[in-house]
Amino acid sequence: MIWIKESRKRNAYFAVYYFWKIMERQFMPLSNNRPLLQMDTRQMGTRETISHYHSELLKLCDALENIANGLPVLVDTQECLRVAQDLVPIIHEAHSFEEETLFPYLQSWQDKFPDITNSMERLRFEHWEDEAYAEEISEGLKELVARGLDCNFEALSYMLRGFFEGLRRHIAFEVEHLMPILNHSEGQVVH
Ligand SMILES: [Fe+2]
Repeated sequence: MIWIKESRKRNAYFAVYYFWKIMERQFMPLSNNRPLLQMDTRQMGTRETISHYHSELLKLCDALENIANGLPVLVDTQECLRVAQDLVPIIHEAHSFEEETLFPYLQSWQDKFPDITNSMERLRFEHWEDEAYAEEISEGLKELVARGLDCNFEALSYMLRGFFEGLRRHIAFEVEHLMPILNHSEGQVVH
């Protein structure tokens, strides 16, 4: 019975929170710390766009590391909810750009860079893993806010660290293996 009451209270809290966020996006002017989803990347070139996504993903990694380092005492609930809300859409948006725009372009350079096919296969698999993992992280952060001291801090910390360390390695691989091809083809990239 108590659990049901807590569950209803939590659901009501998130309903109010998400209603507020939707209204905020609809009616309030954009601020400097607006979410990535409201940034217009249509005018950016391919290299600039992927660098932008890398930068935003690394900021998310830093935010997740700060949350993990603050557990179990220093928990900024607003920050946890912000990251929980933004994580999945940002990851999805970055992956969509890479797989729908960047990878097909890089594939056209396979003759000159024969390893690119294997690299992209690895990256696609990691994208799939990260998207599933991001859903769990997002739910874990909401649980943290909703349950407070009842949360399993050790498990959450382990999950957060596994995620942001893996994501940083993924980005480092892309910088090392994909960016040189874009740099090489600079001037030939169709914006
Ligand atoms: Fe990627």
